[in-house]
Amino acid sequence: MKSTEKDRLRKLKIIENNTEITVGLKQNLPIDLQKLINTDENSEYFETLYSGGLTAKVFKLKINNVFYNLKKKRPVISVQGTDGQTSFLNEIERRLDFEIFKKEGDLDFSGIVDTIYASLKNGFIFSPWIEGKIPGDFTKKEIKNLFGTLLNMEKKGLFEWDLCPGNILITPDNKIKLFDFGYCYRFNPLKDYNSEEKDLPVFHMAERFETRNYMQLLLNTEELSGIQHTLKKYRYEKEAAAEIYEEKIYWLEQKKADNDILKFYKNIISEWKNSFVSEETLYNLYKKESFRSYILDAEDDLKGETCTKNTLLKIKKILEISENDYDFIKSSGLLFFGNEKLTKDDFTEKYRTAYEKALKYQIKR
Ligand SMILES: Nc1ncnc2c1ncn2[C@@H]1O[C@H](COP(=O)(O)OP(=O)(O)O)[C@@H](O)[C@H]1O
Ligand SMILES: [Mg+2]
Repeated sequence: MKSTEKDRLRKLKIIENNTEITVGLKQNLPIDLQKLINTDENSEYFETLYSGGLTAKVFKLKINNVFYNLKKKRPVISVQGTDGQTSFLNEIERRLDFEIFKKEGDLDFSGIVDTIYASLKNGFIFSPWIEGKIPGDFTKKEIKNLFGTLLNMEKKGLFEWDLCPGNILITPDNKIKLFDFGYCYRFNPLKDYNSEEKDLPVFHMAERFETRNYMQLLLNTEELSGIQHTLKKYRYEKEAAAEIYEEKIYWLEQKKADNDILKFYKNIISEWKNSFVSEETLYNLYKKESFRSYILDAEDDLKGETCTKNTLLKIKKILEISENDYDFIKSSGLLFFGNEKLTKDDFTEKYRTAYEKALKYQIKR
């Protein structure tokens, strides 16, 4: 059995047995534990509710003139599947990991929110409030800052899957902060590509940021300001990724990582660097990677039945690109997840149906 499958079973057992896991010290809470557990919109220290999530309710609180964040698990998590059902527990386990890493002090985790106190049985995570906003755009420096934190996480054996816009904040002094770890899993960076071990090399740090976040931003840029401007933004993101992946390779070599892992990252970097030589080569890489990300993101939205107008936009793009450039898609290895078995007509049919589905799931929401 794969380690991820074992881990899923382990987590289900913890939930079934109603096991307690805590992070931090109860005495560091600024108010009584029971009072905190009973927090709702009527509490005198209540400020704002961030209720977008399907797993938890997120409150901004003001206690003795200090702002805090309270993430309270919903009685029923409405995300289907084991990963959704265990995501709150998973986040508590990660918060515990980060408190340990911060104490160890060998790597910089200032980009990760602190946990004041968390309790699985009581279903809450209590943290300082991060002053910041969801970034609508990223500079190269900010992307490197984000990738730097993610690299440190990987060095400690953690792989983050969900870098969607709502899971990243940027502070007034332009520092990136991460705080939602529902889908951040353990993996062995010396032997595996991600927490799915060696099965799915398509998923890696820069790909996760691009698929869940940056490719949407670039798609909007394409529509608003044209391809030249888009490629400029794409280029500096790839440069930041290449710089951090060089650091990763250096670390992997020092730690005597498996050869195929080293080779994997070296290949990626050389592909990226080769694309920097001309506008045309950069455009080809953009075409390839954006198409990959549209497919991965659309599949994700369809599976979770969480489609938005962006899902529709991406499926439209998939159809448009495959219509005009099927040979390019095929020769670039972009047909995966069963798509490699389809003819061009079948592929078109599949994503036309997907578009209809995405429309339907949208109406339902
Ligand atoms: N510690 C924090 N400080 C400030 N804002 C936060 C903090 N934690 C979460 N938020 C805000 O609440 C939103 C939802 O929080 P998140 O932990 O991502 O919950 P969910 O699991 O529902 O996605 C975030 O998008 C962010 O805007
Ligand atoms: Mg979130």
